[in-house]
Amino acid sequence: MTQTIAFIGSGNIGRSLARLAVDAGLDVVMSNSRGPETLADLIAELGDQARAATPAAATEAADLVVVSLPFHAYDKLPPEPLRGKIVIDTMHYFPERDGRIEELDERRTTSSEMLQRHLSGSHVVKALGNMDFLRLYSSARLSGDLERSALPVTGDDAVAKAEVTRFMDTIGYGAVDIGSLADSWRHEAGTPINVLPYVSEPPKGLNQEQANHWMFNAPAAVVSAVRVKELTDQATRTGRVGLFLEDLFPVDS
Ligand SMILES: NC(=O)c1ccc[n+]([C@@H]2O[C@H](COP(=O)([O-])OP(=O)(O)OC[C@H]3O[C@@H](n4cnc5c(N)ncnc54)[C@H](OP(=O)(O)O)[C@@H]3O)[C@@H](O)[C@H]2O)c1
Repeated sequence: MTQTIAFIGSGNIGRSLARLAVDAGLDVVMSNSRGPETLADLIAELGDQARAATPAAATEAADLVVVSLPFHAYDKLPPEPLRGKIVIDTMHYFPERDGRIEELDERRTTSSEMLQRHLSGSHVVKALGNMDFLRLYSSARLSGDLERSALPVTGDDAVAKAEVTRFMDTIGYGAVDIGSLADSWRHEAGTPINVLPYVSEPPKGLNQEQANHWMFNAPAAVVSAVRVKELTDQATRTGRVGLFLEDLFPVDS
């Protein structure tokens, strides 16, 4: 099992996953776009198991690399240092944030397939991107705990998927293999498995502001492996691409 995890992107998701990895006894190397010196506070908080590096240097130390960037930056990831590595893709494409990408808008491919094309020497697995970053940290549970949730995983390489499944198990989640990167649209933003199943049912009649507040404070809900399969089977490739959570949340206008 991998002992050192590299992170390219140390924002909301990167930090939550790094905290879980450190809690599980793993070492982490964090990186971002602005340089290792800007991560001093985070490293101090994560403790002795953490250090900061440039993206290229971070990947040297690890077999498993978590990439957690706004999707528009995916082609800035350095292919050479990532060659041969397993890459966990937590990213989603949001046209409003990332700019329009025709082949995604026309659903001719998936964002994870585009990442795999860019990192052709790496083994991309889409995982750990369908919960919000708050619950992602707080809902993690050891194997055997009745409150442990499962998340979907897709990828083209069975060995890489198995390694990512082991990593997820170590940090507190079950994994459900739902296919290849071509199937990864089933757990993209806006699909039935995205975020909301992992949060308790909201009260009725909230306006947008109340809904946002509720989302930050709401208790978690447990999502079983069977439920992951049901929800990802229900996904359809219709409607607008890259829906934000606000578009999905049931609010009174
Ligand atoms: N937030 C959530 O709850 C959530 C849930 C599921 C999935 N996601 C997806 O996960 C991804 C990350 O989301 P987030 O909320 O963690 O984003 P975020 O808080 O904005 O963090 C983004 C990170 O990426 C780094 N970055 C940007 N460009 C880079 C580059 N070229 N090289 C290296 N690092 C770079 C940023 O570093 P600098 O600050 O130095 O630029 C920052 O550390 C997104 O695609 C998002 O859609 C987010």
